[in-house]
Amino acid sequence: METIIVLDFGGQYNQLIARRVRECHVYCEIKPYTTPLAELKKYNPKGFIFTGGPNSVYEAGSPQVDPEIFKLGVPILGICYGCQLMAQTLGGSVVPAQDDTAREYGKTHTYFDTDCKLFHGLPSEGITWMSHGDYMARVPEGFALTAHTDHCPNGAIADEARGFYGVQYHPEVNHTEHGLDMIRNFLYEVCGCTGSWTMGNYMREAIAALREKIGGGKVLLALSGGVDSSVAAALLAEAVGEQLTCVFVDHGLMRKNEGDEVEQAFAKWKFKFIRVNAETRFLIKLAGVTEPERKRKIIGEEFIRVFEEEAKKIGAVDFLAQGTIYPDVVESGSGEAAVIKSHHNVGGLPDYVDFKEIVEPLRQLFKDEVRELGRELGLPEYLVMRQPFPGPGLAIRVIGDLTKEKLDMLRDADAIFREEVANAGLEGTMNQYFAALTNMRSVGVMGDGRTYDYAIALRSVTTSDFMTADWTRIPYEVLDKVSTRIVNEVAHINRVLYDITSKPPATIEFE
Ligand code: XMP
Repeated sequence: METIIVLDFGGQYNQLIARRVRECHVYCEIKPYTTPLAELKKYNPKGFIFTGGPNSVYEAGSPQVDPEIFKLGVPILGICYGCQLMAQTLGGSVVPAQDDTAREYGKTHTYFDTDCKLFHGLPSEGITWMSHGDYMARVPEGFALTAHTDHCPNGAIADEARGFYGVQYHPEVNHTEHGLDMIRNFLYEVCGCTGSWTMGNYMREAIAALREKIGGGKVLLALSGGVDSSVAAALLAEAVGEQLTCVFVDHGLMRKNEGDEVEQAFAKWKFKFIRVNAETRFLIKLAGVTEPERKRKIIGEEFIRVFEEEAKKIGAVDFLAQGTIYPDVVESGSGEAAVIKSHHNVGGLPDYVDFKEIVEPLRQLFKDEVRELGRELGLPEYLVMRQPFPGPGLAIRVIGDLTKEKLDMLRDADAIFREEVANAGLEGTMNQYFAALTNMRSVGVMGDGRTYDYAIALRSVTTSDFMTADWTRIPYEVLDKVSTRIVNEVAHINRVLYDITSKPPATIEFE
């Protein structure tokens, strides 16, 4: 497999660089800059990309690179810190910018030499995203200046004979016009990649690898109905069919009809599907509990108990499968041995159930690739494009204590909201949207009578990372329709509120 190594010097956009490479249908892995060269060579890389980073290359103790990497005959693209590191290591000099003219932040008008392979076929000027306080006072021998700005003569450098390229700006962020094209040029024109990384190919290779690894053994997967575990289930089903058992724990905190939808979606697959209807035992444990973190803990623990009981019933299961995806791996320290991630399912999976090995067939994939693989495997679009749903489910969307009646009320209101969002064709524009039941009751009037009922809150956010989020500007007509329907169709709700708080200071969920 054609592989690019993204050598990580601690920049904030490193995952983004890797995603961009994958978008160009080239496989890549992020490796810490401390990875020994001998290990990197094992990948037989077609090219390296050195990432940005927060340090200055001339500082004592700043991340460095084994100079032998420049003798491998493999092309290198250095970005920001990576560019400066390449320049310094090869005999140039990097110094702190003395004044504002050489220091550049933000959108910067840049001029390109389109004879340089990096800029082939692209406009000769445009906007780049800069973020550097150092600059290259002298570029190494053999390098030409291939881009400049009004302030800085060396926005990009290249030694085309050796296949070394450096850019001061960040081609991976969207603000850089044609940034993706520049990365593509590096991959295809410089490294000679052919773009063989497609989810169709991945699927075939992954199925073969899973068959070899699992042999005749039994595999157990905790299936939540979320995108990752669903795609992992579908892939394993193709690979080992009836040797796979998926356990779906319905804790009674799912959205309206969700349990049945999950079950139906997997009905055609050739694996054993166990749905454990555990609503009663979860609601008993949660009765009277109002503190959000306590709810999470109880649900996590109970989930483990149920899963463990089912694993014991099946017996002699060799492999535990998980839907861990690449961002989870990178965040927990790339290249480490398999770890059971506590956030992955409700409260994590039991590490005290005896499994021979953990299988993580999505470990190399980004979320968008997981979705694409899901499509390749024939999963329905609504499963593949699902919005995130928290493990503790509606328990953290009913503020305060939980009862079945409150959960049912919330389920009905939430279903109306989602239905109207779909009717308005807004699904693609909202990253997470749901209803939450406040524990506030207020006076209303229905017909000729007074009511004293609950207020439901609607929440919708637009976000790419879920760490910060903006509230969605839903058209008033849609809000109006949702509000009218909820108060008319759901008993004991007489008021609908729309949450117009961003994150921070609010969080996405209410608890
Ligand atoms: P917050 O509310 O922290 O949510 O802004 C950020 C994202 O995380 C999800 N979330 C959870 N997911 N277990 C989960 O599996 C949890 O306990 C949990 N709490 C929040 C939330 O839905 C949003 O996507």
